[in-house]
Formats: sequence, structure tokens, C-alpha cells
Amino acid sequence: VRDWNGVTQVVLRSPKGASARVSLHGGQVVSWKNDRGEELLFTSSKAFFKPPNATRGGIQMCFPQFGYSGTLERHGFARNLFWALDDEHAPINHNDNGSKVSVDLILKPSEDDLKCWPHCFEFRLRVFLSKDGDLSLISRIRNVNGKPFSFSFAYHTYLSVSDISEVRIEGLETLDYLDNLSHQERFTEQGDAITFESEVDRVYVSSPNVVAVLDHEKKHSFVIRKEGLPDVVVWNPWEKKSRTMVDFGDEEYKQMLCVDAAAVERAITLKPGEEWTGKMELSAVSSTNCSDH
Ligand code: BG6
Repeated sequence: VRDWNGVTQVVLRSPKGASARVSLHGGQVVSWKNDRGEELLFTSSKAFFKPPNATRGGIQMCFPQFGYSGTLERHGFARNLFWALDDEHAPINHNDNGSKVSVDLILKPSEDDLKCWPHCFEFRLRVFLSKDGDLSLISRIRNVNGKPFSFSFAYHTYLSVSDISEVRIEGLETLDYLDNLSHQERFTEQGDAITFESEVDRVYVSSPNVVAVLDHEKKHSFVIRKEGLPDVVVWNPWEKKSRTMVDFGDEEYKQMLCVDAAAVERAITLKPGEEWTGKMELSAVSSTNCSDH
């Protein structure tokens, strides 16, 4: 646990030297490094590290709304709020050196939060670093309200890539997607793997539970496994949009790609007392092993 500009961050370490950092601000994963110390998540050099705004990068919790699909601020309020540690009931999760390998956080709405979204919930987030350095996020959201409520959700994940023009995504071909660049019009993906040469902002619906992001130059790839999250959001702002974002460098779109495990097209509805679970696991594998996935 360490203090970062007045905000608590929890550091996780695998026995082989991989690491992750989770901030109590937003429950955001702000860093994930492999055992060679290479950062696998993108964070903008122009990012604001000041609450309440989420830091541009890492993995942000979008809840109870993704995008502008409802009446709340974009991507909901969970990424802007302060979460609490919820280690009380958690199993002891340390590796042999005594370093933490997992952390449990909890978010409950304050009176003010209830004014903008009048539904009582408990959101428990577990972040776990495996002994091989894979990063898992498990979200459990419970309705502790007297009435049903609905929400959308995403793990807004900024992957670090060497050059966006060299990157491709496998696992989304032939799927339908909602295009945020044309009023969420529905299209069907025609190409083989997905590659990038302009702004992309799409929600691929009902996708398989394994998606790969192949990065030629870095000679490693990401494998994203998900459960309970039917959709995948793919976003790169490209040149023009980058220039409109104050917390993002003009050229940084070349080094990032957002691929989010999400539930966007169909809202999730919880009756009183019900709980929903959504999981995402990220692995960074060397390209030579990619054909195995
Ligand atoms: C993506 C959305 O997930 O997040 C984009 O699909 C949006 O439409 C982007 O621009 C960044 O959002 P924000 O609120 O973090 O600037």
C-alpha cells in the first residue's frame, strides 16, 4: 500500500516479479507490469492525477452506465469515486515473499450518489495477479434496494501497444457492432482480423469469451478472457479526436488501444437481493505462443 498524490494505491506482486497497482480512486488499475518490468497498460503523459476525474489510462470501472446510454455523466460515476478496502472477509492473499497478490475493494453509494442514481448497491471488486502475471478483475454487484435496477458496465482497458497501425484484434470478425461514430447504427464486421487506420469507436455485441490483441513490434500479444460480459468495446481516438482531449497527447493514439470487456447492448437487471458477476482476465503472451490460443 502506498500513497500517491494523497490517494491510496495497493501494489500487487507475483513471485516472478510481475506487478499491478490499484487505486482507491475509481477502483482503477493504474499499472500492470510483466516480470521484465514492462508496463502493459497505457497511461497518458498528459493525464490528470487529481480526483474526481479518472486518470486517462489503465483500467477504469464504467458503472452504472457505459458511454452516454443513460442520464449520468459519461461512463457513470464509479470511476470517479473513492472506493474502500474490503479485505475483512477476503482470504489472505499473499505470495511466499509476503507481497500481496490480490486486493478487494468495495463501493457503496453515498447520499449524494443516490440523488443522481437512486438505487442502493454494493459493488465488490477483486483484482488478482496470478503467479504467471495474469491480471484478473472480478466484479460483483448486488442490489440492496427494494426495487429492481438496471445498469450497463465496462472494464475500460487502455492497452499499451507499440504502433496502432501494426496491431490487429482477432475474435471479433463477422460480429455485429454498434458504431458510436454513426449514432450507434448497427453494422456487421466484414474483414478478417480488425486493423486500424482511422478513428474507431464500436461496441461488438455478443462476442466470444476470448479475444486476442496482436502487436507485431512488441512481439507479444494480449489475450482477454471474459465471463458475464457479452460485448467488447474497441476504441482508438486517432488524430483529430486526440487533439480535442486535454488529458491526452496529440500523438499518443499510436501507442494505445482500448479493448473493453463490457455489457452495453442489453442492460443488466437485478431484482432486490440479486447479484451479478462480471470477470475479465488479461494475459500478455509472447507471440511465439500465440498460435496456442
Ligand atoms: C470509449 C468510448 O470507451 O471511451 C468513447 O467508446 C469515449 O466514445 C472514450 O470517447 C473516452 O471517454 P472518456 O469519458 O474517458 O473521455
